Amino acid sequence: MEKKVERKPARPVYPTPAGLITSIDAEGKANVLTLGEVFNLSIADPVWVGISIRQATYSHGLIKAQGEFTVNLPTAAMLDQVLGCGGCSGRDGIDKFERFGLTPIPSKHVKPPMIAECPVNLECKVVGFHHVGDHDLFIGEVLAEYIDEDCLTEDGKPDTPKLDPLIMLRGGFWRIGEKVEKRS
Ligand SMILES: Cc1cc2nc3c(=O)[nH]c(=O)nc-3n(C[C@H](O)[C@H](O)[C@H](O)COP(=O)(O)O)c2cc1C
Repeated sequence: MEKKVERKPARPVYPTPAGLITSIDAEGKANVLTLGEVFNLSIADPVWVGISIRQATYSHGLIKAQGEFTVNLPTAAMLDQVLGCGGCSGRDGIDKFERFGLTPIPSKHVKPPMIAECPVNLECKVVGFHHVGDHDLFIGEVLAEYIDEDCLTEDGKPDTPKLDPLIMLRGGFWRIGEKVEKRS
């Protein structure tokens, strides 16, 4: 075995997809926040996902107050919009949908809208909240999951290369590579 080099731990687990998270204020104005990663917590029954958000963000307060958010998984081609939404705050009155050319579409079960340009969208209700070190963890129960029809295979399964998820990893942003085995 090659010699192992100890490094300062930082975002040590990979790959996880980047996410665009929408939330809404009391007047119904929606906001978008970029996360470097979103993750599965409970996989099938129930389906719960986790998002870790810094207290200082505007979205943190909105999600805490309203108890709802949507997760939208961008494609690698959406990198500029992902960086844009993560580089400014809705607290400053910015409409990130307008500024970054994102299209809000109504959700069925929650108030925050979903993002049309993202091929996967999840409507989530907050079912848990925990302080986790330098972030706060919101646990969201997934009330509905949507996928773009043109990202499905002929037999109706998600076609991963077409989803083209954006992966934030050491050294930058990546897209997934080739399939190594046929089992789904
Ligand atoms: C690539 C990228 C990854 C990010 N990941 C996180 C993250 O994991 N957690 C977090 O709280 N903020 C993260 N941010 C920062 C927020 O997106 C940023 O603070 C944003 O301006 C907050 O928006 P808001 O104040 O409108 O909610 C990330 C930003 C970028 C560009």
